[in-house]
Amino acid sequence: MSENDLQNAFRMAMRRVAATVAIVSANKGPERHGTTATSVTSISMDPPSVLVCFNQNSRLHGFLREQDRFCVNVLHTTNIDVARMFSSSASSTERFTSGNWHMDDEGLPYLADAQANLFCRKEHEVTYGSHTIFIGRVIQALTRDDISPLLYSDGHYSSVAD
Ligand SMILES: Cc1cc2nc3c(=O)[nH]c(=O)nc-3n(C[C@H](O)[C@H](O)[C@H](O)COP(=O)(O)O)c2cc1C
Repeated sequence: MSENDLQNAFRMAMRRVAATVAIVSANKGPERHGTTATSVTSISMDPPSVLVCFNQNSRLHGFLREQDRFCVNVLHTTNIDVARMFSSSASSTERFTSGNWHMDDEGLPYLADAQANLFCRKEHEVTYGSHTIFIGRVIQALTRDDISPLLYSDGHYSSVAD
């Protein structure tokens, strides 16, 4: 199988993987950014930790490289428009017009009506291929009562059917 065929087969296989959608947000002083991501995985409970993977060409990658904090905003099905906005070509300023965004006392943006917010301190980063894996230690976790994660599979958003 050629490298091109293998990449196409891999893409087709990954379309069959359903994942919960999040927006990873960060700030450099008053400058804030956020990007839609499904590459969020919990690593361990002790310490509470997660990883996120970002393409080195993404704007958020620059923020994550330079900053030592980020927030994982786990999206609710009602946040679908926010997910679309934060994966579009819109500027940072335009993106934050979508959704109920607040800032913590260090200016880190978080989506107040997300299902959950994981405030992380970056502990490690590993570059592999086109992406960098950022490992964050969770220093605070907020949750919303009703559980209805926004899912993404086969190029579409959906919700969990019982
Ligand atoms: C559902 C969904 C999940 C995505 N997950 C990731 C991801 O985990 N990592 C990544 O680098 N890009 C991911 N993307 C692509 C980015 O959201 C998209 O390229 C975005 O425009 C990059 O924005 P930025 O350059 O402003 O950071 C995803 C896109 C969608 C629609």
